[in-house]
Amino acid sequence: MHEASHQLRCIGCGAVILPGAVEKNFRCVDCGELLEVEYPSWSAAGSANQSATGGPISSPRRMPNPGALRWLWQERLQSRLAIDRSGVWRFRELLPIVEHPEKAVTLREGNTPLYLLPKSAEKLGLDQLYAKHQGMNPTGSFKDTGMTAALSQAHQLGFDWVACASTGNTSASMAAYASRAGMNSLVLLPEGKISWSKLSQALDYGAVACQLNTDFDGCVRVLTDVVRRAPVYLLNSVNPYRLEGQKTAAFEIAEEFDWQVPDHLIVPGGNLANSSALGKGFLEMMHLGLTSKVPKISVVQAEGANPLYLYLLQQDGRDIQPMQADTRATAIRIGNPASWRKAARVIQETGGYCEQVSEAEIALAKADIGQEGIGCEPASAVTLAGLKKLVREGKVRRDESVVLLLTGHTLKDSEYVIDFHQGTLLSREESAGHQHEIAERRRATLSLDASSDAVLRVLEAAIQA
Ligand code: F0G
Repeated sequence: MHEASHQLRCIGCGAVILPGAVEKNFRCVDCGELLEVEYPSWSAAGSANQSATGGPISSPRRMPNPGALRWLWQERLQSRLAIDRSGVWRFRELLPIVEHPEKAVTLREGNTPLYLLPKSAEKLGLDQLYAKHQGMNPTGSFKDTGMTAALSQAHQLGFDWVACASTGNTSASMAAYASRAGMNSLVLLPEGKISWSKLSQALDYGAVACQLNTDFDGCVRVLTDVVRRAPVYLLNSVNPYRLEGQKTAAFEIAEEFDWQVPDHLIVPGGNLANSSALGKGFLEMMHLGLTSKVPKISVVQAEGANPLYLYLLQQDGRDIQPMQADTRATAIRIGNPASWRKAARVIQETGGYCEQVSEAEIALAKADIGQEGIGCEPASAVTLAGLKKLVREGKVRRDESVVLLLTGHTLKDSEYVIDFHQGTLLSREESAGHQHEIAERRRATLSLDASSDAVLRVLEAAIQA
């Protein structure tokens, strides 16, 4: 453990916890809140009594040189070393969390593409719209960037077993990285409420996969008890080391923009760790002088799983109210998000918004992204659906550059896509008011005789259409 390089700070009471003294549930012993990693030698929160992103920024003691860092990170793209080829460990100066970075468990995560979305940009009247596709990670979701960080930590601490509760992607990612490291993994999944593709990944990568007759929030409750009673290392996103890996997507975005960050970043919200991680990444870069501003960070939730949206709407001094969540975007079917306080803080600090979108809006946005030649899973498409609303409400201007964070690969949930095109995805009530747009985007699969005449008739009709 690299004790000198980092410490943990409670986001509730501000208590500092040394890495060796952290509880198994990664919560503060005094107030029960979540923890955040900070780096005393350079992060804004390095001095006592300051929260990681709040309060005035003090001058850090050993500020890394921004120019040298940019050069080094670029150079590593040419290297043959496994950790240099990882889009997470390439930035290891800003996540010194393990004693032996050279022994990190990596599958060459990160370094994901940033695509232009010209068709959607035109429809929305925006000059610059991009998608940062974190679904192009080794197991098909952004979880890999966090997993390489936290699982490497577990590995170097000598754990044999890792565990998580999941809506599917975390379990797939954790199982893969555990297998790479020669470790064992236990996953708790809400029975019948995750896609088969994600479950099949966890099985293929050798996890002990338990489907529980509850939802994601119920799985988290059970796992909390399991972790207390068994020698397993918790890899849900309450583990703050996960966020250190996930924040590197912010570094990649800034690098792609030549260290001029975009105006607005839009992220899906489930358990609300990823929005927090990206906010942390952008704020750290600005603090270090790598960039001169942070983008607005907005979070989009599904209408049926919108506790953060309701919390920010009500602002009545009460904590977030857990809810019974329901959405076909199963990755974000979460009613009691663990990292809500961190996410709310990031939205407020960066001047972003929280939006909610309906099932039909998600399906339409997913089809729109597909028509750009880019697939993603439904939970990722909430970003475009949310952007459409933000533009309509005048919260995003035409000349602002916007990046949508796509979190999962389209093959993560092919049942959803088939149902959409077959017209069985949405109920009559859900599609009300959107029938025309849905019909425009649906594609039929055609069963034909094995003859060129039959195929040519179809082609002719398509050309004339
Ligand atoms: N998008 C996808 C594809 C996800 O899998 C998740 C979360 C999110 C967005 C939301 O991210 O939780 O950080 O706000 N999936 C978790 C899982 C919960 O278990 O795979 P968040």
